[in-house]
Amino acid sequence: MYLKNLYLANFKNYEDANIDFSKDINALVGDNGSGKTNLLDAIYFLSMTKSAFNHSDVQCIRHGADFYSIIGRFVIDGKTHTVGNALPQGKRKKITIDENPVEKAMEIIGRYPVVMVAPNHQNLITEGGETRRKFFDSILSQLDRNYLADLLRYNHALKQRNSLLRQFAESGRTDRDMLESYDRILLPTGKRLCNERMQFSKSFLKKIIRHYRYLTDGKESIDLEYQSSFLADDFESVFHQSMEKDLILQRTNAGIHRDDYIFSMDGFPLKKFGSQGQQKSFIIALKLAHFDVIHEKKGIKPILLLDDVFDKLDDHRIGKLTNMIEDHEFGQVFITDARPERTTHFLEKLTLEKKVFYINNGTLSMKN
Ligand SMILES: Nc1ncnc2c1ncn2[C@@H]1O[C@H](COP(=O)(O)OP(=O)(O)OP(=O)(O)O)[C@@H](O)[C@H]1O
Ligand SMILES: [Mg+2]
Repeated sequence: MYLKNLYLANFKNYEDANIDFSKDINALVGDNGSGKTNLLDAIYFLSMTKSAFNHSDVQCIRHGADFYSIIGRFVIDGKTHTVGNALPQGKRKKITIDENPVEKAMEIIGRYPVVMVAPNHQNLITEGGETRRKFFDSILSQLDRNYLADLLRYNHALKQRNSLLRQFAESGRTDRDMLESYDRILLPTGKRLCNERMQFSKSFLKKIIRHYRYLTDGKESIDLEYQSSFLADDFESVFHQSMEKDLILQRTNAGIHRDDYIFSMDGFPLKKFGSQGQQKSFIIALKLAHFDVIHEKKGIKPILLLDDVFDKLDDHRIGKLTNMIEDHEFGQVFITDARPERTTHFLEKLTLEKKVFYINNGTLSMKN
């Protein structure tokens, strides 16, 4: 799959742009604030129906304008699919495939897959467990509808249980039978989710290790450990034991909503001991593992959006990454860099079809 053409109207700092891409490599170079990341975000938008960076769609309308429109032409097995995403101010977002309206985001997510690596993804390492749980849950939910159904069931029961705990505190009356009616959902559903997370993290780690080893010539060894109170054989009694604490703190303390995935390097937590370049290398390996998972599941190579990946990597690691691209491991690749000479230097060696776009304040020009 590749994106043949992209049309943007009033999307962030692009007033009007119409771009034909290479099916292999597209480099976007330009000064800070010129619009490189915005262009990747427009591609992400078409695939995921929302921005990778802005919580509100309205923020993506160019200042002073009253709508945005993004139209992309994806080619899959020789057939072109035209995907549209537009937001007229004050109205609902309009998503279309070949001009037919798409009612639910779920209908389109996963059909034109992308994997993005952006500087803020380092938060997967540096932030708390919730960020990592969300990342893994979103992959698992897209792979398996049953996982998503269980996750929704679990979260719903958890919310109800927590609100019951708050009610008990307010009224001073406790009804343990009522709590147990939720426990009967949380325990089996949580155990199933825990098993899925465990299985997945094992196979995912193998993929991360393969990419990390290649990228770094095996310089450091990395690990991913899935942690959950539901891994214990006696998880049910662990859950019940925290009942007194639940009543005092007015929330459920044990369960898979407290799980974490611990990333480490040479036996030490990556969060505390990894250098910026090592953390960046890990995130790249993690995202490439995500790429592999989608490729295996769907049989299509997602579009790879690499935002500022060269930054903080040494020349050796940049060389390795470009070798991976040259070896056709990936399909279409978009890569941004504020230092044009660095990108053109590394891309020079590649025999694949490449286009270099120079971006200046939302306007593109091209050099071959
Ligand atoms: N809704 C909007 N309307 C107009 N301009 C916007 C809007 N949203 C963002 N911008 C502008 O887009 C620019 C940022 O673009 P972008 O993040 O793509 O830059 P970049 O080329 O990736 O820069 P860097 O090299 O620093 O990463 C900023 O100047 C910002 O003001
Ligand atoms: Mg940027």
